[in-house]
Amino acid sequence: MCGIVGYIGNEDARDILLNGLSNLEYRGYDSAGIALVNSEGVHVFKEKGRIDVLRKSVDPAVKSTLGIGHTRWATHGEPSKRNAHPHQSASGRFTIVHNGVIENFSQLKATYVPDVAMKSDTDTEVVVQVIERFVKDGLDVEAALRKTLKLVEGSYAIALLDAENPDMIYVAKNKSPLLIGIGDGFNVVASDATAMIDQTRHYVELLDEEIVELTRDSYTIKDLDGNVRERKPYTVSFDAGDTKKGAYPTYMLKEIDEQPAVIRRLLQKYRGSDGMITVDPAIVKAVADCDRLYIIACGTSYHAGLVGQQLIEKIAGIPTEVHISSEFSYNMPLLSKKPLFFFLSQSGETADSRAVLVKVKKLGYPTLTMTNVEGSTLYREADYKMLLYAGPEIAVASTKAYTAQMAVLAFVAITVAQKKGIKLDFDPVHELSIAAQGMEQMVDDKAQLKKIARDYLSITRNAFYIGRGLDYYVCQEAALKLKEVSYIQAEGFAGGELKHGTIALIEDGTPVLAFATQKNVNNSIRNNVEEVSARGAHTCIISMEGITAQPGDQIVLPKVHKAFTPLVCAIPLQLIAYYAALQNECDVDKPRNLAKSVTVE
Ligand code: F6R
Repeated sequence: MCGIVGYIGNEDARDILLNGLSNLEYRGYDSAGIALVNSEGVHVFKEKGRIDVLRKSVDPAVKSTLGIGHTRWATHGEPSKRNAHPHQSASGRFTIVHNGVIENFSQLKATYVPDVAMKSDTDTEVVVQVIERFVKDGLDVEAALRKTLKLVEGSYAIALLDAENPDMIYVAKNKSPLLIGIGDGFNVVASDATAMIDQTRHYVELLDEEIVELTRDSYTIKDLDGNVRERKPYTVSFDAGDTKKGAYPTYMLKEIDEQPAVIRRLLQKYRGSDGMITVDPAIVKAVADCDRLYIIACGTSYHAGLVGQQLIEKIAGIPTEVHISSEFSYNMPLLSKKPLFFFLSQSGETADSRAVLVKVKKLGYPTLTMTNVEGSTLYREADYKMLLYAGPEIAVASTKAYTAQMAVLAFVAITVAQKKGIKLDFDPVHELSIAAQGMEQMVDDKAQLKKIARDYLSITRNAFYIGRGLDYYVCQEAALKLKEVSYIQAEGFAGGELKHGTIALIEDGTPVLAFATQKNVNNSIRNNVEEVSARGAHTCIISMEGITAQPGDQIVLPKVHKAFTPLVCAIPLQLIAYYAALQNECDVDKPRNLAKSVTVE
């Protein structure tokens, strides 16, 4: 979703801002803009569409060492040049970029700036107009900003320029993510560290309802009452190379290929000196002591949670429920007496999940966040934290974070089982290493998956995935991945459920792809394949060597332990979606309408 960058230093701000915005493209956007300040004033350039269009429209004659930039994902007002940020106050003195939603924008307009003619349809513009009104009333800029933000209901990450003070960027945050980056003789603003990783690896987190006065060599953080808050920078653990595509044609392919290495990295990170899987003892105790675990997540993270539920219940014997954040938030079920909440989120910024976190924290329940982004909102606000160590995930479609989530959930199940004295009948480190090897084998044999995409998905508008048990959860993720990157309408069904309605959709040539890796339901899922085949479906079976495979199966996966089949299934489901998207000439890294970091509810 929307992204913000800002730069104040001594270099040419134009290229730094445009490159920063390019680094934020992965979040999803429909228009973009920058504002550059120099002795002649503030120069605003904005365009609908891609950063490349904006890049061409910026006048190279405008030299500046200070500016702000924005990628917009429309919420209020259509995607257009007029609604793109930055927005300026009536006199042109103040220039703002904003992420989030100003819920009471019409009341603010009616109460404080009724006579000001708005130049856009956005909720954002009112903020800059109200700031100007308070400055005209006699407040200094910082006081006007704080007063305005106290009136705002909703979420915001803001960068603000004042044409009369060209040595300062004002920054503010509430609910929407925003960081300050610290350099030598310069400072930056960024929605996330990947945006400005070419400039600095040192960042300062901002908490809700804080503002910052940012100059070339200082940052002063204050709360909305003007009290100064001290905070030291931290260093991010990835570097610029981790965010580049290298020789890969797309980020998605790079990130799919990285998955075996991510599992191996996780095995190092969560391994104690005794060689055993090790998780923070406080976390293991919290899980072992709860009477029910609630996993809260959205999208792909939710699908990883479904697999995690099976592992935690079956291996550790802890009753576990998985909920979609946006549903749980407004329709909370009756809770157990001693619940523990797990938040799964690649980005750590998903607003739907955060809304639940805030609610259950208010109720006094313990919380844990499992995320890929250290320092993200969900990471900071939970009582316990576990990192996914997948490295920056740039493609909008989540791949390596999904497999990392399933592996880290397995670590929880294994360590809690050990604490409870449950004897495992397998060696987890050995079996996870075999799973990583199996994933590698699938990654190395892309041709067969490209062929499946060509044979089954080249001329279709819809497709079905079916499976049972863990394979059912895999199918839900397979369908989501296919939909989001190839725009083929797809659903993942429990094999046995088809005949209760969905089978009516099967006609001649309908692609039905079955995951069949579970021994106990191998015959049943094959019967379901027969049922659809008899009605004309074009069927494909993805089975597992030595467990479920039979002659004639289209794809046979290398054998892995039954708890880890979803890890190896992830590779074909992702690559089939990837090649189907290429066939349909879709932008795989930036699918239409989607955002990487979904920071509005
Ligand atoms: C799908 C995808 C989304 C996210 C969902 C949750 O490929 O990426 O479904 O999984 O928006 O995002 P996080 O995990 O960042 O909370």
